[in-house]
Amino acid sequence: MITMTRLEKVIELIQETRPQRIAVLTGAGISAESGVPTFRGPQGLWRNFRPEQLASPDAFRRDPKLVWEWYDWRRELVRKCEPNAGHAALAELERERPDTTTVITQNVDGLHPRAGSRNIIELHGNLYRARCTQERTVIAFDAPLESIPPMCECGAMLRPDIVWFGESLDSADMDRATHAASEADLLLIVGTSGVVYPAAGLVYVARGTTIEINPDETPLTEQCDWSLQMPSSEALPQLVAAILGRP
Ligand code: OAD
Repeated sequence: MITMTRLEKVIELIQETRPQRIAVLTGAGISAESGVPTFRGPQGLWRNFRPEQLASPDAFRRDPKLVWEWYDWRRELVRKCEPNAGHAALAELERERPDTTTVITQNVDGLHPRAGSRNIIELHGNLYRARCTQERTVIAFDAPLESIPPMCECGAMLRPDIVWFGESLDSADMDRATHAASEADLLLIVGTSGVVYPAAGLVYVARGTTIEINPDETPLTEQCDWSLQMPSSEALPQLVAAILGRP
């Protein structure tokens, strides 16, 4: 008797149902194999740093230099990392299906755009953007900062364009994400611990098939139709090949 693995069953399901509209919610786990640290878990950033001391409006008011130095450190770390096979598979899917693929990411590392994804909703901001604290002008930058904290041309201080603890997500971004997740024939939930809302809540609006990809169980596992307990760099290329009808 041949027993199919769970991955093989999911691939067969995709081949049979041929989902057209695909939404993908990603978290830090998709970038873990690129060398970007995750937040939770044994090696996670929040093991060594307290979020409220670095990633909150209060922290920035107290010590903007410390906050900027932390983001500068993370930006330099990510700069040395390359997108992995998981990011590449999602970019490939969008190249083949540009109008029906949406990546909704909690990641601020910019690895999805570097891999070639374009239709991306960056729910938590981006490490390579700053925002004026007065005018809300958004500035993209790539080179290391010349002075910390950086200042806007208007004379006010710039802040990282990141959603901090206690802040709300951009409502237009959240609306687009909710729409994409609810309309999708297939929602993939990749590399997130599923504990930060409202991003984690997107699984509850899904009307199509939901597949979680994460080596560990999360609070979202029960809610998903399928759970593939494996690294995303292995699962995503195979799922994307199945979606695109490739052998
Ligand atoms: P977490 O660090 O909370 O979770 C990362 C998840 O990735 C864990 O569930 C791991 O099991 C999983 N994982 C690890 N390696 C993986 C791999 N190779 N393939 C697939 N999954 C893997 O990160 P997030 O859920 O993204 O907020 O955290 C959510 C938010 O909390 C972040 O956006 C950040 C943080 O505070 C802001 O910065 C605003």
